[in-house]
This record gives sequence, C-alpha cells and structure tokens, in this order.
Amino acid sequence: MTATTKALRGAAISIDADPFLREPRDCLTHHEDALTVISDGIVTAFGPYDPAAVRPGVEPERYEGLLCPGFIDAHVHYPQMQVIGAYGTELLEWLTTYTFPAEQSFADDAHAARVAGLFLRELLRAGTTTAVVYCTVHPGSVDAFFAESARFNTRMIAGKVLMDRNAPPALLDTAERGYTESRALIERWHGVGRQLYCVTPRFAPTSTEAQLDAAGALVRETPGVFTQTHLCENRAEIEWVRELFPARESYLDVYAHAGLVGPRSMFGHAIHMHEGDFQTCHDTGAALAFCPTSNLFLGSGLFRLYDAMDPKRPVRVGLGTDVGGGTSLSQLRSLDEAYKVVALSGAKLDAVRGFWLATAGGAEALRLGDRLGRIAPGYEADLVVLDPKATPFMAFRTGYCQSIEELLFALMIMGDDRAIRRTYVAGERVYDRDRPEQFRYP
Ligand code: GUN
Ligand code: ZN
Repeated sequence: MTATTKALRGAAISIDADPFLREPRDCLTHHEDALTVISDGIVTAFGPYDPAAVRPGVEPERYEGLLCPGFIDAHVHYPQMQVIGAYGTELLEWLTTYTFPAEQSFADDAHAARVAGLFLRELLRAGTTTAVVYCTVHPGSVDAFFAESARFNTRMIAGKVLMDRNAPPALLDTAERGYTESRALIERWHGVGRQLYCVTPRFAPTSTEAQLDAAGALVRETPGVFTQTHLCENRAEIEWVRELFPARESYLDVYAHAGLVGPRSMFGHAIHMHEGDFQTCHDTGAALAFCPTSNLFLGSGLFRLYDAMDPKRPVRVGLGTDVGGGTSLSQLRSLDEAYKVVALSGAKLDAVRGFWLATAGGAEALRLGDRLGRIAPGYEADLVVLDPKATPFMAFRTGYCQSIEELLFALMIMGDDRAIRRTYVAGERVYDRDRPEQFRYP
C-alpha cells in the first residue's frame, strides 16, 4: 500500500522543550513560512519552506494563520455539557443540585450518543484534538463516546465513572460491578485505533475503599491504562475525605494506598496541596490538571502552578477545562484565566509556557510526549490553524504585535473558538471554520 502524503504551507509554531525548566524563548520553534509534510497521519518533515523538499505531485495546501499542535484537555466531563453555567453553588452542592441529576440522563444510550456527538464537534471546533474525559457510571456512555471518537479518529482517553456510595442510587455501581464493567470496556476500547482507557473513580467520597482497591487492581492488570480522579479541589470536600478515611495521612494518600498514584495518573484540580503531596507526585510521576475556569467558577481556589512546577521537584501539569464546572471548552479561554490565576500569586504566565501547558506539556503529563503535542517528524498530525485576525478587534490588536511571543500572548488572552480556523486529526482536515456546512451536528 502506498502512503497518503500531503503537505501544509504557512506560518507554524511548536513548543519543543519544557519552558518551565529552560528559558522559554529557547523552547519555541517558529517558522514564518513552514512546510509540514504528513504521511499516513504522521508528520514526516517540518521546517522552513523549501521547494526542494516538496515531493513531485504533492502540492502544498496553503493556509492563512498559524499552525500549532492540537490542544490537549487534561480534564473534562462530556456528560456535563447540559449543566455548564449553572448558577450559584460551590462544589458539593453543585454536584448534588445540577451534576448528578444531569448524569442520570445517560442511562439512555440515545441521549449519550447525541451528547457525545455534540461534545466531539465542539472540542474540534475549539481546536482540542485530545482530551482526558469522564463519562458517567453507565457503560453505554463510554461506548457512545469512544464510538464517536473512533469516527473522527481522534486520540482520546476516557473511562466509566466508578461510584458506589454518596450519590443517587441510579448512579451507583458496586466495587465488583464497577470492576467487571470497566474490564469489559478496557477490552472493547483500550488501544483500539487511537482510543485509550482511563480507570475513573470519580473522587474519594463517592467510592468505598473496596472500590478504590478494585480500581487499583484494574490499573495494575492493564499495561498502559490511565487513571483519573479529583483531588484537593475544595475545603469542604477535603474535610469530608478526612472524615471518611481517618486512617489515611492525606487525601492523596487515600489514592496512593489503593495503588492509584503512578505515572499515568491524572489528578484534577489539586488546589489545596501540601509540599509533601507535590513531592509524592514528583516521585511517582503522577500528573495534575490545572482547571482555571472551573476553579474560579466554583470558587474552589487558586492552583499554585509555579509551586507545582518547581524545578527542584517538578510535577507534570496539564491544562483542563473541566466543563461543566469549567465555563468553556476552548483552551485559549483556559489560558486567559490561567494567566490571571498566576498573576494573583504575583507571578506571570508567558505565552510559551501557556501554549506548552495546552500542547506538549499536556502530552508529557500523559506520557504521550513522544507522539503528541508537537509538530515534529514522528509525531501524530493533530494540528490546528490559529487565526490571529479572527475578529475585527483581534485583527486590530494583533496588528500591533511585534514578535511571535506577543502574538501568541494576544491569542491566549483574546482568543476563543472563533480563533480556530482549521483542525486536523491524524492529518485529515476535520473542521474548517470557513466551510461550516461540512461539519454536521447531531
Ligand atoms: N469532584 C467530584 N466530581 C466532580 C465533578 O464532576 N466536577 C468537579 N469539578 N469536581 C468534582
Ligand atoms: Zn472534574
């Protein structure tokens, strides 16, 4: 079989080293006129445009804007699309008032399929090509999600929520049923095409110790499987965990005791962390998801990004939208809020570090940094074309930018889904802002 080869031509960026450990400017690759060659979904060449590098018969596709690796969302709940922007509560009341009732509607497979279809399209329209996704307790919600992802050939990481206490009866499984259903889903989806499974105990208060142990067993038994849960998001939640697990030294220790803290663990929020918690994450290689729009919306607190990323014991951090606690699926919106959160601590989040968190840093956090998050030979061709002139105001503002760093910063502060001109998945153009008729919603 001959390879399908295509080439893209235009400006491009990629953040190719960790700007939290090195001078940010040295981590940014920027070509004003780049050629990106893609063969069978993989980037095979990337560099300044050179007519000699263009294979005969492969006419480069030109784009206006800035090619960038597709965004990675380290923490998001697809069943919560119907409760985004729900008024007036903090975490625990928000869960019982809005979230648990909404998640019950995913017992209906047709509803799950419809929302999964909407969610995938909205992600791609926002420039996100990989996400770490919570489904609901219903196995059908996972099948619906992965089936839709397989249709777009997106690399997604997702799993069935495990809950065996402290939630409405209709949303509860048991330690044993949660294990059996997760195992069947792993066999059905993990490593099939680009889909990857994530063992997903919701958070310590909604799982018994037996269920957390069963989740740990799933992780131990399945090479390459991920795990995700919530950690230290809200003060009342942390106090509740202390009451439920009096024998454990800390919230993180509850998960560690069950074997859930390791190199493919993604902990959402991690706002109220002690130094010992960061050290444990560093030592075990566990990752944290910084979810600024959600942490602000639910009044949960301010993530300590530079403490987490302290070069003395750096912890891997990805950027999460946490919709529906979060208020947008656009990672450009997340970066805007992330900048403000960091500013409140007296520090600054520059554009190179910001874009790193949303691309290669997220991939590193997921141990997929050898294939996702950059534009480079051997990398999966999940790409977006950013449009710095997406609105008259943006065109006006970015007209004053004098460097690529300034332009990226303006994009991260002003940008949203309107600034995504095209999205490519494994080299295929799946979204084109200028051809909305090709992007049918369910
Ligand atoms: N903690 C437990 N479940 C959830 C959830 O769905 N969203 C958020 N933000 N925190 C949680
Ligand atoms: Zn969450």
